[in-house]
Amino acid sequence: MTSTMFSSLQLPNGSVLPNRIAKAAMEENMADSGQLPGAAIHRLYRTWADGGAGLIITGNVMIDGRALTGPGGIVLEADTPLAPFRQWAEAAKRKGAQVWMQLNHPGRQVMAAMGGTAWAPSALALDMGKHSKLFVQPKAMNDAEIRDVIARFAASAAAAERAGFTGVEIHAAHGYLISQFLSPLSNQREDEWGGSLPNRARLLLDVVRAVRATVSPGFCVAVKLNSADFQRGGFSEDDARQVILWLNELQVDLVELSGGSYESPAMQGRTADGRTLAREAYFLEFAKELAAVAHMPVMTTGGISRKAVAGMATALAIVPDLPAQWLAGGDQTARSQPVEWKDQVMAAVARMALVKRRLRLLGASRTAAGNHSALLSLILDQMRTRRLTRRYRRWSQARLITPG
Ligand SMILES: Cc1cc2nc3c(=O)[nH]c(=O)nc-3n(C[C@H](O)[C@H](O)[C@H](O)COP(=O)(O)O)c2cc1C
Repeated sequence: MTSTMFSSLQLPNGSVLPNRIAKAAMEENMADSGQLPGAAIHRLYRTWADGGAGLIITGNVMIDGRALTGPGGIVLEADTPLAPFRQWAEAAKRKGAQVWMQLNHPGRQVMAAMGGTAWAPSALALDMGKHSKLFVQPKAMNDAEIRDVIARFAASAAAAERAGFTGVEIHAAHGYLISQFLSPLSNQREDEWGGSLPNRARLLLDVVRAVRATVSPGFCVAVKLNSADFQRGGFSEDDARQVILWLNELQVDLVELSGGSYESPAMQGRTADGRTLAREAYFLEFAKELAAVAHMPVMTTGGISRKAVAGMATALAIVPDLPAQWLAGGDQTARSQPVEWKDQVMAAVARMALVKRRLRLLGASRTAAGNHSALLSLILDQMRTRRLTRRYRRWSQARLITPG
């Protein structure tokens, strides 16, 4: 029988996804105080559980409270209280989906307002044109700091398993720390962690090995990888092919292909190197080629809003039960709202703000029919971010005084 998006899928570790529609990671920026998941997150994930996806991947969860992608980020470290995470996993699993926690370290993609140190392979700040000053000047990591990151990924994965998640996805895409190591543009190290592709990929492969060695065999370990960075001289499609060959040897249960970074937001369908992406399903062509060498299932995310086999993010913020509607035979679409502003950076931020506003509405058990004003969503998001940044700074200061 030919498989469809509604067929179950057995993963390399023997566990099963009830169907092949995945809710891809979307950072909710909705942590309660203490950077923990709370009632709004639990409600949001109950909605997605009811929505019918066979796999629910959480928004990125930070492995180190000193390094957050945003001030409303959720942090899971070795000694974080697990009860709110147990409720989160329960909420997402209640209709039989698998739920994977996405684990991330932002590296240099941190707003300057967050305070503290930012770590990166090399001391090279993001180039965001006139918006560059909003981001930190990172410090190049030393060997001990790199090894600490590897141990932290493993500790967070072990905690996710204890909390009842069925897997983790290691975020190696979108210009965050592991992706920074993979790219020759951001990684200009001359030690064993930089230079050749085996050296640039060492952090990712060591993280995967450490995580796999810590969790049970039935617990899924996935990787989100850029099919390319879409920047001249960056991580290329050939690099991605080689990395997948290495991941083939490491008991990885799924690879999700995406692309881009803050500097080149290909995941929103736009690139910095002038390459044109398909109007829909941006990475499908790359995925086909890379899937040919992959031993594990390959999932592609980006620009998917109508029936297809894939991971979806934005579409499920607009219509959270789209998979259930498709399973029932419908062919609804859920296209995201276009934001065509001259300032590409602000347009990208506004697109994110629009989606995050929908996530908050869903978390408050409200539906979000119709379009919102992009400008108002952006202003609300910035006000909220400012408030959460103050809260985060108080939290991280208090941790410095009373560690643990
Ligand atoms: C609000 C928002 C937050 C996101 N947060 C994450 C994240 O935490 N981790 C991640 O891997 N991708 C994140 N993404 C990217 C999505 O997972 C996905 O790769 C991208 O949006 C393209 O898919 P789509 O066209 O279906 O939205 C985010 C996207 C949006 C819109």
